[in-house]
Amino acid sequence: MRPLPAFPDPQPLTQHGPARIVSVCNQKGGVGKTTTTINLGAALAEQGRKVLLVDFDPQGALSVGLGQGDPRQLELSVHNMLLERGTEWEDILLETTVEGLDLLPSNIDLSGAEVQLVHEVGREYILAGCLKAATEHYDYILIDCQPSLGLLTINALAASHGVLVPMECEYFAMRGVALLMETIEKVQNRINPDLVIDGFLGTMYDSRTLHTREVLANVVQAFQDQVFHTVINRTVRFPDATVVGEPITQFDSNSMGASAYRELAKEVIERWRLIGA
Ligand SMILES: Nc1ncnc2c1ncn2[C@@H]1O[C@H](COP(=O)(O)OP(=O)(O)O)[C@@H](O)[C@H]1O
Ligand SMILES: [Mg+2]
Repeated sequence: MRPLPAFPDPQPLTQHGPARIVSVCNQKGGVGKTTTTINLGAALAEQGRKVLLVDFDPQGALSVGLGQGDPRQLELSVHNMLLERGTEWEDILLETTVEGLDLLPSNIDLSGAEVQLVHEVGREYILAGCLKAATEHYDYILIDCQPSLGLLTINALAASHGVLVPMECEYFAMRGVALLMETIEKVQNRINPDLVIDGFLGTMYDSRTLHTREVLANVVQAFQDQVFHTVINRTVRFPDATVVGEPITQFDSNSMGASAYRELAKEVIERWRLIGA
């Protein structure tokens, strides 16, 4: 295992924005994208950062995980913001129970957006356009991508400065990553040359099993310094927190899971500081 460096406590901010926009992306389902978006977002907010989370998955798991109950009941969601003239980010904005953490919610309506967006002029840039006015109000905007590399995910990557890739420390973790890297490269070459990979995050790590350690070692061998030192352990407290609709930092503030995402928040802030973000 690599030694875990001590990441400095982030400097307090005296003003907010412009936001760094980060896509939490992996076309594999169940790797911890939504869990990472919620809990990294909440941990960044604990550091006094203003954070906007964008639910960009028609499953609406991010919205549920932040206490939205049944997102089908939402009157307005990301779908309306993307496709209706006159519906702006502020019209769909929801506050969460965490101070400094806001949400643009989604539900199953978003599944129709992919087909509708195909006919729009500048179809890859629709989300970027919607978020433009929000950036001055936030320090970070995290986009929880759906498990596919379709037009919605391309919109997220086109709108982003960085990509964060959660990877489950399980068999087949590397499967599909080559395709994800290819997609990111295409986006860099064709529509968003400034996009960078902010890092790979090992999730659902279980130090008791050999294969989970081997998988993480393989990921580190493949991506080296791009892999965050912080690793998220496997614990049922994450699904438990989802049921309650709260980040783990709030639901079980003293848990290992909460401290892992707090460490990750410090690590990413330091990483962003070093690249001048
Ligand atoms: N570190 C973890 N330990 C245990 N369960 C986890 C962990 N991270 C996520 N989960 C659970 O695994 C499932 C999939 O996670 P999720 O974040 O929804 O993945 P994705 O958004 O990539 O599909 C959820 O039930 C979630 O609560
Ligand atoms: Mg998800």
